[in-house]
Amino acid sequence: MPHYDWIWGDPPPLLKRHSEVKHALLRNYLIDYFLTLVSMPQQDKIQLTIVDGFCGGGLYQNESGQEVPGSPLVILEAIREAEVLVNVRQERRKPIKIDVELICIDDCSYALDYLGHVLDERGYGGGVAKGLIKLVKGKFADHCGAAIQRAHSRSPRSGRALFVLDQYGYSAVPMSCLRDIFAKLKHAEVILTFYIDSLISYLNEKNLADFELSTGMCSSVCAADLDEIKQSPRWRVQLQSSLYQSLTSQCSAQFYTPFFIRPERGHGDFWLLHLSQHWKARDVMATTHWQHHNHFAHYGKAGFHMFSTGYIGKIDDENRLQMGFDFSEVAATVCKETMMAQIPAMLFEGADGMTFEQFFLGLINTTPATRNMVEATLLELHQSGEIIVMDDAGDASKARVKLKADNVLRLPSQRTFNFSI
Ligand SMILES: C[S@@+](CC[C@H](N)C(=O)[O-])C[C@H]1O[C@@H](n2cnc3c(N)ncnc32)[C@H](O)[C@@H]1O
Repeated sequence: MPHYDWIWGDPPPLLKRHSEVKHALLRNYLIDYFLTLVSMPQQDKIQLTIVDGFCGGGLYQNESGQEVPGSPLVILEAIREAEVLVNVRQERRKPIKIDVELICIDDCSYALDYLGHVLDERGYGGGVAKGLIKLVKGKFADHCGAAIQRAHSRSPRSGRALFVLDQYGYSAVPMSCLRDIFAKLKHAEVILTFYIDSLISYLNEKNLADFELSTGMCSSVCAADLDEIKQSPRWRVQLQSSLYQSLTSQCSAQFYTPFFIRPERGHGDFWLLHLSQHWKARDVMATTHWQHHNHFAHYGKAGFHMFSTGYIGKIDDENRLQMGFDFSEVAATVCKETMMAQIPAMLFEGADGMTFEQFFLGLINTTPATRNMVEATLLELHQSGEIIVMDDAGDASKARVKLKADNVLRLPSQRTFNFSI
């Protein structure tokens, strides 16, 4: 996991290619997020708070020697870009205003000092002077409560806030912070970096205890069994799966995506977890991944339950690489075919069927597919007679392009089902 030094007067620190990928995801997601929020042309302002909890010094040089922005600048540039895009696309008479207060927290005074200079140089000095960009020195965990309070007082009804938590390792974001964010802000979202490889590679009784103590996360890993667990050829897969389950079940977010990034040389995989309270937020993130698939790799399976076997860079201790799921057109086809085969089997359980909404919400966390992709697959299965979609009068629906949330999905009666799929 990289460490950066920002000293004003020295060249900015080096940013590796896989960290540029992280910034590309953040920029693309923010633009998609703003465009989703301002879909109504009569709206002329959206107000929210963004907390960059581990903001850094704001500037790097990349592997080709070019200056590239750090997360605070990525956020500020994405706001400007989204404003321009909305105004052009919607041909607005009154331009949209994306009213963001950006709270930048870092516990290193050099990094904050550097960021202050960078913001000034890039024309954001006025924003800092007016308090629209706040620079806060200290640990994220110590300032999280105040940031939540601030976001709440700016948007008491919508509770709209985004927390970018780009920690160095895996232990600087306590579960209690995540739970507070989701308890107090109705539309909060978190993008959390988690260096799963560093945790797993050096996992022993002491590290596990330290990790649990600093994050307040109870893993289901038993320290006394660690030596034995590591004898299994699939121990990395099993540990990743188990830690992922513990984190997602204890952070109290209802929806999540576990996309992860792998450095070129195969060491230091990290998760970029997107956590939210609303399916739509999760869907926007999944759509971002499909739209910008060149950047991201998501190791997992194509259809539903992609985490049942775990997902990981190194499938065993011989460092054999598992194939990545890459959000390409081929991946979309495989994803669809997998869902086509899985869905009838999944509907077999409930004799009375289930609504599209129940089906989708129950499975969203387990698939890279977006709502549109699941909907299109269901409609195709309905048209080929593999499943039945019923409208609210109980008749077979004539829907071809859209499903309603309360449409009921079920298997045709007397269907013989092949369990070998
Ligand atoms: C990975 S760097 C962040 C990079 C930045 N988000 C970006 O994308 O440009 C992590 C930053 O977190 C800071 N840091 C480390 N521990 C911290 C903590 N507990 N609270 C707040 N900041 C912390 C470090 O000084 C460093 O600047």
